[in-house]
Amino acid sequence: MVPVLTDPAEDTDVEPQTVLAPLTGAAIFLVAVAGQEQHCVDAVRRLFGDLPALLRAVGFRDAEGSLTCVTGIGSQLWDRLAGGPRPAGLHPFRELKAAGRHAVSTPGDLLFHLRAARMDLCFELATQIMSRLGSAVSVIDEVHGFRYFDDRDLIGFVDGTENPVGAAAARAVLIGAEDAAFAGGSYVIVQKYLHDLPAWNEIPVEEQERIVGRTKLADIELDDEVKPSYAHNALTTIERDGEEIQILRDNMPFGAPGSAEYGTYFIGYSRTPDTIEQMLRNMFIGLPEGNYDRLLDVSRAVTGTLFFVPSMPLLDSLAQEPPAAAERDGRADDAAELPSATPRHYAGSLRIGSLKGASPDE
Ligand code: HEM
Repeated sequence: MVPVLTDPAEDTDVEPQTVLAPLTGAAIFLVAVAGQEQHCVDAVRRLFGDLPALLRAVGFRDAEGSLTCVTGIGSQLWDRLAGGPRPAGLHPFRELKAAGRHAVSTPGDLLFHLRAARMDLCFELATQIMSRLGSAVSVIDEVHGFRYFDDRDLIGFVDGTENPVGAAAARAVLIGAEDAAFAGGSYVIVQKYLHDLPAWNEIPVEEQERIVGRTKLADIELDDEVKPSYAHNALTTIERDGEEIQILRDNMPFGAPGSAEYGTYFIGYSRTPDTIEQMLRNMFIGLPEGNYDRLLDVSRAVTGTLFFVPSMPLLDSLAQEPPAAAERDGRADDAAELPSATPRHYAGSLRIGSLKGASPDE
């Protein structure tokens, strides 16, 4: 059930991470899991503390390069890092299976979504992040995405056209009063798709257009009279009470022609994961059941993970250990020595950011 969503600007002025950054020419998607030992979580915390300075240092080398980094946290790591209240929509990615179509669920504690106009900026920041994390994490997947002509994916269609912009984008992705303790945060689902391009290229362009729901060259939406109910953009349009519930996508092509690997890295941000989960059910199971997305006849999801994207102040506060956990682990003294300006996100309850009107636990 999709909750009632109000304008986040009315609920909070908590600074979000750069989820609303525009489409860029290059991106790196890094998904990693943290080791089981306590020192691994400590390394993650130290990285969270260092990230703003790292981003400044690398980004400053090309001010036009628009380098950004969004950090997502998976369901299991959240409990180890925060040990308290959970964002309402945070859970492991739910796999889907229907007639040979499979939305797999794969592990992931951390997502780093690095974007810039140039790959070298993303590459340098990824290098700095990994040198900090070292053996504290195992990388599950790393994808380097590139811009392909006029924002096309490797199946040749323009990808990203119907993304919301401005206030509509913020409304679509930022958590507001419905989960006030986590306001300014977001959810992100990633899936790595591999395409059977020879099979796709055998499909006549007119049928490809019906499968996507838009024309290939000019990227114009098909009229409702000719658009089939299985079109990708029909199955991924979610309405509630006559109003469309949008998400923000920043898909990127990737591949290696030498090994015939051609893919689309799907990344979708939303205010609640329900919206993307509904889209996935429509695509994989069908609406109605069996009326599935024909893109899946030539595309296979090989990863699938859900992350929570904390607001800037919450991410910053996660760099510090909750005092209760330090006490439990016999390290209360370390926590007591934190400078007084250190954000303390736990004192029995979450106290994060500056929520307009009232504190989250009032
Ligand atoms: C094989 C992977 C995928 C490919 C190649 C792909 C490609 C496309 C293309 C070409 C469009 C039309 C242009 C646009 O508006 O961006 C589109 C639209 C869209 N896609 Fe995907 N997509 C993929 C997976 C997904 C997934 C997994 C979801 C969500 C679960 C999704 C959600 C959407 C949405 C919401 C739209 C806009 C629909 C509208 O309002 O018109 N896509 N996609």
